[in-house]
Amino acid sequence: MTAAHDHSPRQLLDFYLEAGADALVGEEPVDRFAATDAPVPPMPPRAPEPPRPDFTRAGPAIALAAPPQATDEAVMAARQAAKSAGTLDELRALLEKFEGCALKGSATQLVFADGNPKAKLMLVGEAPGRDEDIEGLPFVGRSGKLLDRMLAAIGFDRTSVYIANVVPWRPPGNRTPTPQETQICLPFVLRQIELVDPDILVCLGGPSAQTLLGIKDGITKTRGRWFSFNSGKREIRAMPTFHPAFLLRSPLQKRFAWRDFLAVKKAMTE
Ligand code: URA
Repeated sequence: MTAAHDHSPRQLLDFYLEAGADALVGEEPVDRFAATDAPVPPMPPRAPEPPRPDFTRAGPAIALAAPPQATDEAVMAARQAAKSAGTLDELRALLEKFEGCALKGSATQLVFADGNPKAKLMLVGEAPGRDEDIEGLPFVGRSGKLLDRMLAAIGFDRTSVYIANVVPWRPPGNRTPTPQETQICLPFVLRQIELVDPDILVCLGGPSAQTLLGIKDGITKTRGRWFSFNSGKREIRAMPTFHPAFLLRSPLQKRFAWRDFLAVKKAMTE
């Protein structure tokens, strides 16, 4: 077997990409094959255990579950910024300047939206993937191509719909956005929906539906159902459906998504 350090850097990078490691997580490269004679440092002394909360007494349970203060502050800043945007262009500019979400640091660029800002049908996914991060547009990879075909089947395309994501920066390695990242980005997408003012909102996948509609049930239970959604301007109809990436993995489920899209088309012409 050849040691990895015998390969060229290009081959090594290709190997990492093949293995799915396509995001830079550190500033400095680490040669993990380099031999080191440095002695193993001794274990640091164990810190004393913090006092355990007494769950038998009534108390401020909320304090135990509260996110770190930094998240609270970032959510407040996001709400303030989003509220101050009078147009979609202003909202995009505010997001470009926003420093409250760490995902911005690892993403290549902001993935704000695609499509027609005057569309009456808006679709919202979870977060950009690798292709979207490179192109700066939502749903341009394999799942985007499937979404385009699904939209075409009901007579729509990107000139007649508006597409965005709950989280507008790609999480490194396509991991799921954390609840904190989602909460920080939420005010922006809510304002985006308010400014587009669509008649119908389609939530692509469980995370989008749960975040936007404030529901706990999974997508298998909620897909195809109509929910009322307060856009900030008015009550509109919203439907969760399967995420196209899930449909690529589970093509048998496409028949349910087809039903959902037909219901959306019907609602759009009512
Ligand atoms: N998945 C999403 O949720 N959004 C995209 O933009 C691409 C893939």
